[in-house]
Amino acid sequence: MIVLGIETSCDETAAAVCRDGRILSSLVNTQTIHHRYGGVVPELASREHERGLNILVDAALVEAGLKRDTIQALAVTQGPGLAGSLLAGICFAKGLALGLGVPIIAVNHLEAHIFANFLADPTLDHPFVCLLVSGGHTQLWWVPKRGVYELLGQSRDDAAGEAFDKGARILGLGYPGGPEIERLAELGRVLIDFPRSLLERDSLDFSFSGLKTALLYFMDSYQEATSPYSLADVAASYQQAILEVLAEKLARALEHTASGKAVIAGGVAANRHLRELVSNRLPSTRTIYPDLPLCTDNAAMVAFLGEVYLQEGQTSSLDFSARPNLRLG
Ligand code: KG4
Ligand code: ZN
Repeated sequence: MIVLGIETSCDETAAAVCRDGRILSSLVNTQTIHHRYGGVVPELASREHERGLNILVDAALVEAGLKRDTIQALAVTQGPGLAGSLLAGICFAKGLALGLGVPIIAVNHLEAHIFANFLADPTLDHPFVCLLVSGGHTQLWWVPKRGVYELLGQSRDDAAGEAFDKGARILGLGYPGGPEIERLAELGRVLIDFPRSLLERDSLDFSFSGLKTALLYFMDSYQEATSPYSLADVAASYQQAILEVLAEKLARALEHTASGKAVIAGGVAANRHLRELVSNRLPSTRTIYPDLPLCTDNAAMVAFLGEVYLQEGQTSSLDFSARPNLRLG
């Protein structure tokens, strides 16, 4: 089956073609228009999606060596995400599905992130613990079987990706903050003891707002020329404080569920230092990550999950709408 996937939940316009569980092409256009504002401007994002989708879909088909009329189904992100951005992708996908006379599948973006792991490791099976770490979500899930998601814990304030993005802004780095902090941190040493919020003893929840405030106060009186710490040391120490908490909570969740299998999903999964910390903290746990380009937003994960739904006989009726606050489970 040939499925065209479309992803427009935030500031990445993405199109991908999946055939029988294999990705034939996956194109992502990261909108650069937001850089000058230091964050995503929703109105600009939806306009950019509208402008870019047609060309991107054609390019994805050319790369897959296919023509439009070979598409057998459309899969599109329904939510969560920015309302206008989601609508741009959904309207485009509905129009195309109607024109081609093929079914459409509305896909949950968070579930698609998790499914990027089945693409990375086709031998992955349930049950497993999932650490979902993106720009808007930091959650621990117990996934006993397909489609069943039991929430173990989540952030009470900022998401881990948000902590990277806000931290980068405080450090005067660009957006998105995760890759910027990771790059700078590689040149630095972990010397500053930023707070790790582990909450109550048995809690699987997270909190990152105190850490962000600690960085803000630290930077208030910081001058690189006179400080014993370079800016890279600050970035490395801040990154370490975020990632240690993620690794520790993942370890607790595995213990809590007596599970030996962990799946990491979402943009922060692209962080190489996270991978290192988790493998040091959990040497005997089987840990699966998506391939690096499939950690951050992409349409390959959407097309792939759409095909899974189709194989189970699930399609969506054409009257579904965007769900900006869609949840898992
Ligand atoms: O999953 P994603 O692409 O979009 C959402 O669904 O939110 O995640 C984006 C988040 C951003 O906050 C970004 O700073 C973070 O993932 N991120 C990273 C890295 N690459 C992206 N965080 C840490 N290290 C990275 N290498
Ligand atoms: Zn995402």
